[in-house]
Amino acid sequence: MKKVAIGCLGAGQVVREQHFPVLAAMPGASLAWVADVDMSSARLLARAFKCLPVEPREIDGHLHGIDVLLIAVPYGVRLQYYERLRKVSADVSLFVEKPVARTVAEHISICGLRPPHRIACGYSRRVLPVVEAVKQMIGEGFWGRLNECSFGIGAVGGYSVGDKYYADPVMAGGGLMMEIGVHCIDAVLFCTGGTPAGDITGQMILDNGIDIHTKAETQLRLADGTNVPFAFEVTLLEETEGRIELVFDRHVLSFSLFDDSGILVRKIGGKSGYTVAVALPRLTGYQMLGRFWMRYFEALETGVVNETCSVTSLGVTQMVQAAYELVGCRVVPLAENSMVSECQVV
Ligand SMILES: NC(=O)c1ccc[n+]([C@@H]2O[C@H](COP(=O)([O-])OP(=O)(O)OC[C@H]3O[C@@H](n4cnc5c(N)ncnc54)[C@H](O)[C@@H]3O)[C@@H](O)[C@H]2O)c1
Repeated sequence: MKKVAIGCLGAGQVVREQHFPVLAAMPGASLAWVADVDMSSARLLARAFKCLPVEPREIDGHLHGIDVLLIAVPYGVRLQYYERLRKVSADVSLFVEKPVARTVAEHISICGLRPPHRIACGYSRRVLPVVEAVKQMIGEGFWGRLNECSFGIGAVGGYSVGDKYYADPVMAGGGLMMEIGVHCIDAVLFCTGGTPAGDITGQMILDNGIDIHTKAETQLRLADGTNVPFAFEVTLLEETEGRIELVFDRHVLSFSLFDDSGILVRKIGGKSGYTVAVALPRLTGYQMLGRFWMRYFEALETGVVNETCSVTSLGVTQMVQAAYELVGCRVVPLAENSMVSECQVV
């Protein structure tokens, strides 16, 4: 079988430590080139992974030789590339790292760049065994009816911006919500099959344009048409459990996207007070990402949309947009038909 040739925009941490080591180990993939405004990073990475360093302004000329472009530059610099990709080389499929978008209009616009099975986005935690198991259990009605869901993520001072793009809310597209909140919202929507329903209430606090605390409540519409409450907290101002919690008729399930604790199950009102852990296979970060790329390659080969495709994460963006609209912050399109938005304190 022909290998999937990959070009990459961005030679930063996620590419260096995750995508390239994984793709280099996959028999079905070949690394063609890497482009970055920091050409010394691009050259170093290209040398280590035996591919070509490319100046970002010259990528158009290199698109014809690849099957997939991995877009792993920070959110705030992607627009210029989307506009170029709209005009050139429609044959190249896309893998857009998270976060995809801050507004629904922007998300739809990005999805319009290619047919739905040919744009992936990096919500790779969808293929974690814990996420797959919870999704399957909910789908089979194993625990009965789902009545509530919630998550809390973050801890006091638990986010160091250092010299990374996070320090710039335009580059990052926001703060904690875009960086980590999106993974948790995505996992809840993905596992439950729910879609955002109804108003969102709560509070978001910004520090220099960076969201550092969001506490919100909304509703999810489940596949059977019922609505359930969904509360979430994404914060640097409070301690959280760092877990997603799902309340069923008689049991509460909780799990983390960021550790190997499996699924914890507690009986509501049970006398024992025990929590039972459902152990699951462990995957390294490399194995998880490799699995996700494999699933994306399947979508490309079969033409069938699967869980890797951006079109399946529109609900996440819908919630993110609503969260940024909560208080003191308005999402304003930079220009008509623009795909980026900026955060304004009002
Ligand atoms: N899916 C995940 O779990 C996951 C994990 C980590 C990072 N990410 C996402 O991947 C993206 C990159 O993260 P990172 O940790 O590698 O960041 P990073 O800061 O380490 O790297 C970003 C790279 O982009 C380059 N760059 C900046 N502006 C550019 C431009 N205009 N043109 C070309 N190159 C440019 C920088 O020089 C840098 O090398 C972020 O959006 C982040 O949220 C996703």
